[in-house]
Amino acid sequence: MKIAPSILSADFCRLRDEIQAVESAGADWLHVDVMDGHFVPNITIGPVVVESIRKVTRLPLDVHLMIADPDKFAPEFIKAGADWVSIHPDTRKDPVTSLKKIRELGAKASVAVNPDVPLNKIEACLSHLDMILMMTVFPGFAGQAFIEDVLPKIEDARKLIAQRKLPILIEVDGGIKADNIHRVLAAGAEVIVSGSGIFKTPSYAETIRKMRQAG
Ligand code: DX5
Ligand code: ZN
Repeated sequence: MKIAPSILSADFCRLRDEIQAVESAGADWLHVDVMDGHFVPNITIGPVVVESIRKVTRLPLDVHLMIADPDKFAPEFIKAGADWVSIHPDTRKDPVTSLKKIRELGAKASVAVNPDVPLNKIEACLSHLDMILMMTVFPGFAGQAFIEDVLPKIEDARKLIAQRKLPILIEVDGGIKADNIHRVLAAGAEVIVSGSGIFKTPSYAETIRKMRQAG
């Protein structure tokens, strides 16, 4: 399992300390939530912040683009240091072209699947993916409640990937904490995003240790 703390729930005044704290607590990746106030009703961070983060950590940067025009900005985030880029395919008429471009620029490509989107909507993307990001909340805000109804869809995604023998990771994002992580792991998730579930706990190391034990 890979644990990817979402910095959206970190203390932004102390971002370097917060990143180094989760890194030494055993985080595998850092999840960076990018919101533009159009695709989702919230604004977060841009490429300049990713560029600064890149300088203070060796962790892979997993950039989740919740923005209306990922084609315009994905190259900037990759230039700034993004290793993984997730797009919401419903923002594009032709998400395959966007995914190919992300890979051409040297990053790993992923599509995010909202809780109400069936897996057949990403069928055309499958052979252009390194990861599927299964949303377990509706994107836009940290600290929302985990949507249990997504669990069978995570199992279906796992089966689909196995049937087709595709080298695709499954990431889950939204409302995941030490006390419910076992459910997404049992369903087949491999990369676990957790924002408030880590940053709002007193000891990041203890929380990450508990999360690993649950696996
Ligand atoms: C939701 C974001 C998530 C969120 C995770 O729009 O994509 O990454 O910040 O935060 P928690 O773990 O608090 O739900
Ligand atoms: Zn996210």
